[in-house]
Amino acid sequence: MAVMADYCPGLDIHVVDVSQHRIDAWNNIDSASLPIYEPGLQEVLNRVRGRNLHFPTDVSGAIQRADMVFLSVNTPTKRNGHGAGAAADLTFIEKAARQVAEVARGSTIVVERSTLPVRTADVLRKILGQGSGHHFEILSNPEFMAEGTAIEDLQNPDRVLVGGFCSQAVAELTAIYANWVDPSRIITTGLWSAELAKLTANAFLAQRISSINSIAALCEATGADVDEVRRAVGSDRRIGCEFLRPGPGFGGSCFRKDVHNLIYLAEHYSLDQVAAYWRSVIDLNSWSQHRISQMIVKNLFGTLRDKRLAVLGFAFKADTNDTRESPAIAICRDLLHDGATLSIHDPRVSFDDIQRLLVTEAEGRPTSGCFERVDGVVSACEGADAVLILTDWAQYRDLDWATIAARMRRPGWVFDTRRCTNLSDAAAQGLETWQIGLGELA
Ligand code: UDX
Repeated sequence: MAVMADYCPGLDIHVVDVSQHRIDAWNNIDSASLPIYEPGLQEVLNRVRGRNLHFPTDVSGAIQRADMVFLSVNTPTKRNGHGAGAAADLTFIEKAARQVAEVARGSTIVVERSTLPVRTADVLRKILGQGSGHHFEILSNPEFMAEGTAIEDLQNPDRVLVGGFCSQAVAELTAIYANWVDPSRIITTGLWSAELAKLTANAFLAQRISSINSIAALCEATGADVDEVRRAVGSDRRIGCEFLRPGPGFGGSCFRKDVHNLIYLAEHYSLDQVAAYWRSVIDLNSWSQHRISQMIVKNLFGTLRDKRLAVLGFAFKADTNDTRESPAIAICRDLLHDGATLSIHDPRVSFDDIQRLLVTEAEGRPTSGCFERVDGVVSACEGADAVLILTDWAQYRDLDWATIAARMRRPGWVFDTRRCTNLSDAAAQGLETWQIGLGELA
């Protein structure tokens, strides 16, 4: 909405939320207190906040005055009851729709922005149809931006997708995007295709990561180098080289949830083989995470008891403070179960977040091991038997291995799960090194 406000000074945009605390945070001009960290966001906010982007608390009033309502509520995976662990929990979208039905006036275009299972617009149609005396049109306008590059992705998107059955409503929304997006990049479809395209895009991206991670393991076993394989394979234009970097498995709020959603839909329509196919993408991702911890235990002589590991990076990827579904969670829990002492460094993730994920929300609290959060990379490595790199933060690219190695216990190890550090410098300091997807056989 901030980016939209920036390019469309004629629009008056009101962002509302049921959480007063969140709205207060968005109104706070101090960047450190914004609810999310996103490069470039503060600059855009500085231009538009109070001009044509407002964060009021009167939800009903904002809906009443609006010509267009964007529903951007979260759709977590259901935890209980029918479809638990797979289906999307539509509680929030339903609540929001009921409120729109109750208070909207005149003619309103309701835009689905949340990632929703295909045919959710049916639910919206039924709820919105309950109100009387006003007219609704529903559009699906899923968002394809990635965290860490959100502002750039929004300013210069590969495509914008607008799905709907009312051409007038579709035209109104595309006209807004046309203020900064080339018309050739604005795709219009029916409602169901737009809803399904978003899930499909995330499923295909997740599948690429699972595919390359499966090949990385094969490279390690055979003496091949996954970077070379990636270059050779990715230069086929039909495949493309983007999004083929091996790692400790994908994380983030979308991939797991959306693939699960697709699996649930496939099962709903009795397409069991389709469900099994997509389930394997998730299974391979869990396996990619656990194999890292197993490899570490194996290299550290079969036990982590009385061993200290420096964990560099806890966010699910660089340039975000988001830890949702981060591979670091499963890997650190495994290491703790094996008795390790972890010194965790991440430039943006707080101790509270780490504590919540490793203790409060851990399925089965770690039976042994302990952890701390450390501010500096070098102090995290103090007395460590191994350094484990889990997130590709730029500051890990060029580490001072001479200083780090001098503080480590020997034999010392470096495990680079992202291929993002100057590992040859670490080897030059006498440290043993392991990197994902590199076989040792000659
Ligand atoms: C994703 C989609 O990219 C985006 O289009 C959608 O709107 C939301 O979901 P996001 O979750 O923010 O975005 O992160 P993304 O950059 O896609 O990374 C997802 C995970 O895959 C991260 O854990 C990342 O480290 C991993 N990844 C990504 C790899 O392991 N290798 C790669 O080559 C790319």
